[in-house]
Amino acid sequence: MLDRQESVSRFPEILPYPLHKSPEIFINNEWQDSISGKVFPTYNPATGEQISEVQEADKTIESLNSGKPFLPTLFVDIQGTIKTLRYFAGYADKLHGTTIPIDGDYLTFTRYEPIGVCGQIIPWNFPLLMAAWKLGPALACGNTIVMKPAEQTPLTCLYIAALIKEAGFPPGVINILPGYGPTAGAAIASHMGIDKVAFTGSTQIGKLIQEAAGKSNLKRVTLELGGKSPNIVFADADLDLAVEQAHQGVFFNAGQMCTAGSRIFVEEPIYDEFVRRSVERAKRRIVGSPFDPTTEQGPQISQVQQDRVLELIQSGISEGATLECGGKAFGQKGFFVEPTIFSNVRDDMRIAREEIFGPVQQIMKFKTIEEVIERANNTDYGLASAVFTKDINKAITVSTAMQAGTVWINCYNAMSSQCPFGGYKMSGNGRELGQNGLKEYAEVKTITMKMVAKNC
Ligand code: NAI
Ligand code: MG
Repeated sequence: MLDRQESVSRFPEILPYPLHKSPEIFINNEWQDSISGKVFPTYNPATGEQISEVQEADKTIESLNSGKPFLPTLFVDIQGTIKTLRYFAGYADKLHGTTIPIDGDYLTFTRYEPIGVCGQIIPWNFPLLMAAWKLGPALACGNTIVMKPAEQTPLTCLYIAALIKEAGFPPGVINILPGYGPTAGAAIASHMGIDKVAFTGSTQIGKLIQEAAGKSNLKRVTLELGGKSPNIVFADADLDLAVEQAHQGVFFNAGQMCTAGSRIFVEEPIYDEFVRRSVERAKRRIVGSPFDPTTEQGPQISQVQQDRVLELIQSGISEGATLECGGKAFGQKGFFVEPTIFSNVRDDMRIAREEIFGPVQQIMKFKTIEEVIERANNTDYGLASAVFTKDINKAITVSTAMQAGTVWINCYNAMSSQCPFGGYKMSGNGRELGQNGLKEYAEVKTITMKMVAKNC
């Protein structure tokens, strides 16, 4: 930990909010010191250095703090954030109940009401976008918010805090508490004064949050957790399209995606060719500085995540999968991992079962549609899935059989604010985005009135 004085003197004046003076907490539209007086450092994952030592940094803060390549961040994270907030803003005056005819002399209608105080715990892989997914529907339904960004990536959330004040939100509507999970995060999950908690992150912590909610006030819980998403490629698929989409589906954001299509099932006749083309594509992937516009892949978020990914790669090698390319750390500094492909992967290997959250693609072979459906669903997770084929019957058969919240046909990661997103099984509870996501932030009340008027 830095002490406050050290941090204050070293933090550059890169942000339009007084982080250098009081890099802590945003409550009631004011910057507040932490009660303990502690501060924590934040790092640039592309170099491993503390951002407090970076001088004259560019103000695109998301890339700086998360290591995301600048251009995809602009198009996916920033555009996605704007679209999400606009989409939910449109709902603020359109969430209305229904009038329900019931037996007897009654008038019955429903109304949607805010849940109250919503705790929102945000991960580091899409710090700004995940904040928008949670802020938008919560505000549209009239709730107040206590948000905790991930300890690795607090900067864009704090930037939002400054904008919230500038936009004229009443004090206390949105409060932002940067801090660590076991302290600030756990406090949100168990707090008796918080009425709902929404979480995106690991399945392990999702279970803790659900448990804490159950042990405290049974607050509403929505969870968006891990995945091990299958991507099924039939022999009749457009091969160029399937190879490229499968590549982007797992390597985007350096593989740090809950939807990562990390299990690619390829039909036997095209298996060898698919592997060959995938390896050729992965070798062309440009890894490097997030601020270079040609960069396709930045670093992993932290040393911890880099170590975790490399350890899982080692397990793949020792369990007998074929390492086709990559497999090592990339470069001399920062937390980069080479784009890595395994072929001849068995379903029981750790790399086929565990969420890797890194740039590692597993390619398996299948023979029949029945077999691949069973194997694709043979996982604890159920977030996303995809199928590549020109045969509409196969596409729909697979889509309806997938135990997953999302199925993409001949595309991958085609997400939008209008569509509900969330997991089956241990990938989560509830949905985000779309009308389903909106209603996770409202209570519905039924009002029934006895009609006493006569002769009408
Ligand atoms: P994590 O689940 O520990 O962290 C996500 C958020 O939860 C952060 O804001 C963290 O501060 C908070 N948190 C941590 N412990 C908590 C607790 N006891 N109570 C309340 N909040 C808590 O994820 P971590 O450790 O950073 O990454 C581990 C793995 O989790 C990754 O390798 C990946 O597999 C998965 N993950 C999945 C994400 C997704 O998008 N579904 C996002 C981040 C991680
Ligand atoms: Mg953790």
